[in-house]
Amino acid sequence: MKINTEFLDKYNKVGPRYTSYPPATSFHNKFTNEEFIPAVIKSNSEYPENISIYIHIPFCPQLCYFCGCNTTKFESAAKIRRYIDCVLKEIDTVAQHIDKSRKVTQIHWGGGTPNSINYDFIEEIMLKIKSHFIINADAEIAIECSPAYLDMEHIDRLAKIGFNRMSLGIQDFSAEVLNAINRKPSKHPIAEVAQRIRENNFVGFNFDLVYGLPLQTLESFKVNIQRAIELSPDRIVTFSYAHVPWVNALQEKMTMHKMPSPEEKINMLIMAYEMLTQNGYIAIGMDHFAKPTDQLAIAKENKTLHRNFQGYCTRETTGQVYAFGTSSITQLWGAYAQNLKNLHQYMDAIELNGLAIDRGYSMSVEETVIREVINELMCNGYLDFDAMAIRLKTTAENIKQITTYEPSKLEQFIADGLVEINNNIIKVSADGMMVVRNIAMTFDPNLTVQTSQFSKTV
Ligand SMILES: C[S@@+](CC[C@H](N)C(=O)[O-])C[C@H]1O[C@@H](n2cnc3c(N)ncnc32)[C@H](O)[C@@H]1O
Ligand code: SF4
Repeated sequence: MKINTEFLDKYNKVGPRYTSYPPATSFHNKFTNEEFIPAVIKSNSEYPENISIYIHIPFCPQLCYFCGCNTTKFESAAKIRRYIDCVLKEIDTVAQHIDKSRKVTQIHWGGGTPNSINYDFIEEIMLKIKSHFIINADAEIAIECSPAYLDMEHIDRLAKIGFNRMSLGIQDFSAEVLNAINRKPSKHPIAEVAQRIRENNFVGFNFDLVYGLPLQTLESFKVNIQRAIELSPDRIVTFSYAHVPWVNALQEKMTMHKMPSPEEKINMLIMAYEMLTQNGYIAIGMDHFAKPTDQLAIAKENKTLHRNFQGYCTRETTGQVYAFGTSSITQLWGAYAQNLKNLHQYMDAIELNGLAIDRGYSMSVEETVIREVINELMCNGYLDFDAMAIRLKTTAENIKQITTYEPSKLEQFIADGLVEINNNIIKVSADGMMVVRNIAMTFDPNLTVQTSQFSKTV
């Protein structure tokens, strides 16, 4: 079947994004600090052995109207100092329970805008991490940066601190669109920023673009994609604007401008997909594109792509994620734990106990199986029940039973040429990857669609 508006419309249903399984909406507040520490201790003997660290910096000098992340308007220098002290204390508290022989293969700084705080603070936290953990020589150490606050010397400093990957939030190159979303443009020409990142020998950098923003048209988004291709980052991410006003009420402010219709959004997605794949980028899932030499593209080829809340990663780099900072989510084999979202409550809790767990989730064995199946489909578009059975030390039959697998549930996808079943192997076609969330939903026996909690799949 050809990818067109009619096709995507057919599959454009409300559903989870599966950035985690179960989705973060299932976390509950019976999971507290008391459940967290035993879960961390248990994680030392669980899979994967590697450690991923996430540091959340919630501060942004200016809040963009479209943003769906946990952010807070820039605070005074003293407040930021207090926050950094809390993150340092939290790392001390958790690290004492983590086996010292385990290695860190991934560190990710997100936000908010981590590059908007004093760089001495960034270095202080990195030194703290190094004081507790062994960092693998080829660890991926990444930071999300808004180019509005990024100077050339900052890039040099980040390289010295040890960062080797940068994610640049472009969103849109046009001044009008940025103005409509209350966002400052890049401080320096992006071409110069890209050049400086290359001079500092970063392993790679990516651009985040968003489609579905106010004033965007198919033509204007095409210009964005063209511009991104010319600047040649290793990865380009094209996020579909998620309208979640219950998370960020500021989103309502954008409706005074003309917003692209659902049909225009779908056409933007198709156009971006075609332009990027025709210009040498490999599609990784629905919204990520990477050069063929990039680790993600190689992992996709080898069917070893993986995913956590920080985005795609490879099965080699990914570890169980230990997250620090307000709202951050720790992702262990057997449990999830999210910190308090409110900045002040987070800091008060850390100062009192060194921990600030607000809610979480303990996984049953069945749920870990469903999660692996859904991840495998979402990331690699490929499921070999027998290989998965070996990995999970169980049987293919047991996996099928737990995921309530029935070939008949995939009939529609097979008829549209999106899925192929060959004995115990399920393959999702390149077109099928555009609607892979819908395919994954058929393997989720616990799915109860609550329209208020999820955005549409496309
Ligand atoms: C924490 S932000 C990036 C770092 C930095 N604060 C910036 O804006 O450049 C992570 C990315 O999430 C994406 N994002 C944020 N809100 C979104 C929304 N409502 N829908 C889709 N993508 C969104 C943006 O592309 C953004 O670059
Ligand atoms: S998009 Fe980035 S800079 Fe804008 S509010 Fe969200 S986190 Fe802050």
